[in-house]
Amino acid sequence: MRENQRILILDFGGQYNELIARRVRENHVYCEVHPCSMPLAEIRAFDPLGIIFTGGPHSVYAPDAPRADAGVLSLGVPILGICYGCQLLAALLGGEVIPAGADTAREYGKTETRFDGDCPLFRGLPEESVTWMSHGDYLSRIPAGFSVAARSAACPHAAIWDGKRQLYGVQFHPEVNHTEQGFSMLRNFLFEICHARGDWTMADFRSRTVAALRERLGGGRVLLALSGGVDSAVCAALLSEAVGRQLTCVFVDHGLLRKGEGDAVEAAFSRRELNFVRVNAEGRFLRRLSGVRQPERKRKFIGEEFIRVFEEESRKLGTMEYLAQGTIYPDVIESGAGNAAVIKSHHNVGGLPPEVGFREIVEPLRLLFKDEVRQLGRELGLPEALVSRQPFPGPGLAIRILGSVSRRKLSMLREADAIFREEMEREGLASAADQYFAVLTSLRSVGVMGDGRTYDLAVALRAVATEDFMTADWVRLPYELLDRVSTRIVNEVPGVNRVLYDITSKPPATVEYE
Ligand code: XMP
Repeated sequence: MRENQRILILDFGGQYNELIARRVRENHVYCEVHPCSMPLAEIRAFDPLGIIFTGGPHSVYAPDAPRADAGVLSLGVPILGICYGCQLLAALLGGEVIPAGADTAREYGKTETRFDGDCPLFRGLPEESVTWMSHGDYLSRIPAGFSVAARSAACPHAAIWDGKRQLYGVQFHPEVNHTEQGFSMLRNFLFEICHARGDWTMADFRSRTVAALRERLGGGRVLLALSGGVDSAVCAALLSEAVGRQLTCVFVDHGLLRKGEGDAVEAAFSRRELNFVRVNAEGRFLRRLSGVRQPERKRKFIGEEFIRVFEEESRKLGTMEYLAQGTIYPDVIESGAGNAAVIKSHHNVGGLPPEVGFREIVEPLRLLFKDEVRQLGRELGLPEALVSRQPFPGPGLAIRILGSVSRRKLSMLREADAIFREEMEREGLASAADQYFAVLTSLRSVGVMGDGRTYDLAVALRAVATEDFMTADWVRLPYELLDRVSTRIVNEVPGVNRVLYDITSKPPATVEYE
């Protein structure tokens, strides 16, 4: 089968590297992020269609400044240097970069920039538009053979190019939203300069990966821990297509899932060709959590119990050669691209003792971004509810019940949360928030219902919009919706007499309460 064309992204430590990779792949061009120290022989073997040097926090002349093997410039492969990448390109080819100082122009933020339409990077784009600059160092002299392709007030060399050698550099960041024409510029790099075919599709990935998994796994048995989340579900569907009943999925239902979720996971997999084991372990988890109030202790106990249950089940199943995991590309990039498999630490099997003895770990999604995992899930026919599922913490509802967890509190929270979800969906607002849920607080307050006084618990509603969950804003939900949710919760969930809406962003708050 023909290989996908590949773009190589050399990582110089920039904060937007993952974004660059996502933008490339959105154009149906496959790419990988590798450390800038990637040896030349490996770069050659990678056979890139084009190379992107990312930004980075260093100064090119600093003693510890990261460099790429200069041989990469002579491969005859088009290169685009972004910010630090641009400065490095210039420095390697005899240009001059002036380190940031009091007398040099630092540029941060949105900047009016003028472009030269002769440069293929800017072909077909307006002559002037806003770019996002974030650099201290300044390109004072461009290398021989290069021309200037863009200028801003503070930066006469905002973009440079050498058409003969197919080398391009931009001081700004085309991968961020603030650069108005940035995505078109990246598209131009891919299609006008690298002449990419755009051959990266999920249908293609699916058939390739299935073939590769069959070859790799042979007749071996594979064990996968299903959590009910998107990644492990898609991983299971893919492996089931590849090796059918050689795959056993163990779904540890810790009883801390949302209403109907455990059954939905079971239903999604019951008709597929695989062995599905559901372990209903609510009782054990609740016993372990009994009287535990501290969030970190809850997390720890749940993690430990999970491993124990999984371990017991895998012993019952006998020897398995492979352990499958739903690791995805951001985990791989974060841990240093190209490194050996990193076992995710939360809510899974990271702590399995060595005597469980798998021969190898299989991570068929390790090169996919989250949105690609979702696309693949659709491609494999998983139900939309599962594929577009919001992130849900491994310790589940246990960290959305403040203080000690009990069966009764779990059932109250499940009902309140289901009402919130139902109303959001009915109003078509489900996609207005990236994550939304109910929390059972430990706040008891006085209320009045009918003729009687109540002294019951308060439920908090949380809805956040976020790109990456590192920061998040609270969503301005319509009052009418909040009103309906509040009325329903108080009427339908015994033990709750007050509903609060959380209007705190992250930071200073976190998304979850514990
Ligand atoms: P925080 O509360 O840290 O949440 O702002 C950010 C995102 O991470 C999820 N989260 C977790 N996920 N195990 C997980 O698998 C956890 O212990 C955990 N804690 C928080 C949270 O739901 C949100 O999406």
